[in-house]
Amino acid sequence: MNKKLGLLREKRQKAFEGGGTLRIESQHKKGKLTARERIHFLMDEGSFQEIGMLVTHRSTDFGMEKEKYPGDGVITGYGTVNGRLVYAFSQDFTVFGGSLSETHAEKICKIMDLAIRNGAPMIGLNDSGGARIQEGVVSLGGYADIFYRNTMASGVIPQISAIMGPCAGGAVYSPAITDFILMVENTSYMFVTGPNVVKTVTHEVVTSEELGGATTHATKSGVTHFACANEIAAIQNIKDLLSYMPQNCEDRAPALPYDTQNELRPELNTLLPENASTPYDIREIIDHVIDTGSFLEVHKDFAENIVVGFARLAGRSIGIVANQPAFLAGVLDIHSSIKAARFVRFCDSFNIPLLVFEDVPGFLPGTDQEWNAIITNGAKLLYAFCEATVPRITVITRKAYGGAYDVMNSKHIGADMNFAWPSAEIAVMGAKGAAEIIFKREINTAEDKEAKWKEMEQLYSDIFANPYRAAERGFIDEVIEPAETRTKLIQAFKMLENKVVNNPRKKHGNMPL
Ligand code: HXC
Repeated sequence: MNKKLGLLREKRQKAFEGGGTLRIESQHKKGKLTARERIHFLMDEGSFQEIGMLVTHRSTDFGMEKEKYPGDGVITGYGTVNGRLVYAFSQDFTVFGGSLSETHAEKICKIMDLAIRNGAPMIGLNDSGGARIQEGVVSLGGYADIFYRNTMASGVIPQISAIMGPCAGGAVYSPAITDFILMVENTSYMFVTGPNVVKTVTHEVVTSEELGGATTHATKSGVTHFACANEIAAIQNIKDLLSYMPQNCEDRAPALPYDTQNELRPELNTLLPENASTPYDIREIIDHVIDTGSFLEVHKDFAENIVVGFARLAGRSIGIVANQPAFLAGVLDIHSSIKAARFVRFCDSFNIPLLVFEDVPGFLPGTDQEWNAIITNGAKLLYAFCEATVPRITVITRKAYGGAYDVMNSKHIGADMNFAWPSAEIAVMGAKGAAEIIFKREINTAEDKEAKWKEMEQLYSDIFANPYRAAERGFIDEVIEPAETRTKLIQAFKMLENKVVNNPRKKHGNMPL
């Protein structure tokens, strides 16, 4: 037995060495952790159980049979994060650059199947040069097997991808199908093809950082939801994210214990600027309404004219979508519509109630937006809200103009409770533009055109720059003092706790894509 135990220990030891000391040192020199170190920081102490530690590749071309590493470049298994079950894989860049072989893919698929069957989140720590070039089509097949499972798992269990090194080819498409992507600044990259191929094909000279670094994807493309300062921060971010989510689509997100207190927030009565055209930061309103310090903003630096993120209200997890008057006056455009639509769909998939703060002057006009399909892309947000069946509440703080009024979780598209502050302006458009169109004749024939325009603007404003027309119709359930917002929301979400809505039976909708 001693001899047999010795053999097992030797094999395990070899697996722990990954691609060898030199490659591990090189990984550390780049400011990166190893695959095992990442798992160590992610999982609760001692909870990780590895599966497939001794798997090796089956490749024989190019002398590959002589170069085998137990585990074949990926560590897979399950464990707990803050006491809750999760499945994870962590790619080992020290073994063939973390590239995906047939067996590497099989290991990932095995735990994905377990995660789906057992209803627990799947976390991928990606550090991979993509398909293992020595294996050809076999590794492409392996990626397709993963993509298929990513898709089948979508909406069933939360899937989170952290990008922790240079990820190319298939190593970026699997994360793209998952719910959230996190990147690490300066040490992680995502691209379909790297700078060398770009140069050959398009003659464009670009660095890895410019082409696919964390900042690029957090600000320009929106591919990543989070850009983290380092790997430890990224792992902590994953844990924070998980704390707002249920284990699967049949479950509810965990609630923190909460004792009712005085929920009035008098400071909210004076937060809005006097002038309705002056910008303000919607995050300030959010912070005064939610449980202190509970906001986890998603996609912070992308499409900043809309703010989305998770928060807690009286201990319960909610998803917030809020127009941001401090950026482009909070206008809806292509990127902000896509950003919010995806967030709404995530929350709806996983039973997380939605809270909308609305202050929107409308959709952004212009050729750039029209030619790049604001019609189709704006419709994504409309569609996402329309089909969401979770509890949905809207608070109109100021402007609710035009189509954007309909889109931003209006009563008409299924919101459960619609509140407005006395400062709300609910109309087809702003008073100035409206007066110019409907009182054109009166203005043009007046002696003092400017004065007439002002008079007509005031008239339109008196009638529509308030929440009362909408309240008379019941489109607004209650006009509330800003100070009462938190109280009203806590009560309304509690009232909606057991909401049941079944949309018409269908195979799946045909969302505008
Ligand atoms: C096999 C690979 C590999 C790969 C890297 N390595 N990528 N081995 N298959 N795809 C190996 C290297 O040979 C090297 O081995 C080690 O990993 C580290 O690689 P370096 O190049 O030295 O590292 P670095 O300079 O940091 O560059 C990392 C990299 C680069 C940017 C990832 O290696 C690279 O561009 N790799 C190829 C990327 C790629 O084109 N992949 C295929 C994509 S197609 P040693 O022995 O020296 O340690 C694809 C299709 C999927 O994925 C389908 C999508 C829909």
